[in-house]
Amino acid sequence: MAETIKLSIKRQDSPDSTSYWEDFEIPYRPNMNVISALMEIQRNPVNSKGEKTTPVTWDMSCLEEVCGACSMVINGNARQSCTALIDQYEQPIKLEPMSTFPIVRDLQVDRSRMFDSLKRVKAWVPIDGTYDLGEGPRMPEKKRQVAYELSKCMTCGVCLEVCPNVNSKSDFMGAAPISQVRLFNLHPTGSMSKDERLDALMGKGGIAECGMAQNCVKACPKGIPLTTSIAAMQRETTFHMFKSFFGSDHEVE
Ligand code: SF4
Ligand code: FES
Repeated sequence: MAETIKLSIKRQDSPDSTSYWEDFEIPYRPNMNVISALMEIQRNPVNSKGEKTTPVTWDMSCLEEVCGACSMVINGNARQSCTALIDQYEQPIKLEPMSTFPIVRDLQVDRSRMFDSLKRVKAWVPIDGTYDLGEGPRMPEKKRQVAYELSKCMTCGVCLEVCPNVNSKSDFMGAAPISQVRLFNLHPTGSMSKDERLDALMGKGGIAECGMAQNCVKACPKGIPLTTSIAAMQRETTFHMFKSFFGSDHEVE
């Protein structure tokens, strides 16, 4: 008998409908990953009872763990499905959508919560105009190395998914946007908006709501030092608070 792959997929037809589990059994091919298994189901949407069903929906883009779009919970752990190799999983492989974000359909979630936080903290370097800006400012090597590590964030949402303080009842932005404030405040041009970013971090849903569970740093697929970023931003926001409280006239001289 031909070798097969058994999958159990948590499905939901629309944002408001009830979820249900559906099992699938598909032909095995060497070196398959979760996305190639989902593509096989899409090609022939028949469940393990032999019934025709609707194709499973999920998000993906880069297929090389760079965009973060394909994140889902695989056998209980949130990660990217494009690099999740079938051979490394116990079967039936359980696929669920991340629970921190609203469901769009099946394994597809709406990660706007994270992108809205990134907008709130101005996670970009402001540059105006379309004229030639010339070379960017140079960064000291040590700073550049830290910035490079932080810049690996692919907004996959895994650090929010594993955080007990990020949920539908809380506004906490989670580790990724906090770490991005550290990144953009390190940049010589980005640091011109440093105070605005720190103000945003001190606002509703900001850094004060971190409970230091430390799940984020263990789960981040890019190995970003998230708890170091959080500690650094806690120090920065404290200095910023004192500076705002006592005034900063001495800096004008
Ligand atoms: S910090 Fe890590 S886990 Fe969080 S969104 Fe970025 S890459 Fe994903
Ligand atoms: S498709 Fe981009 S990270 Fe998986």
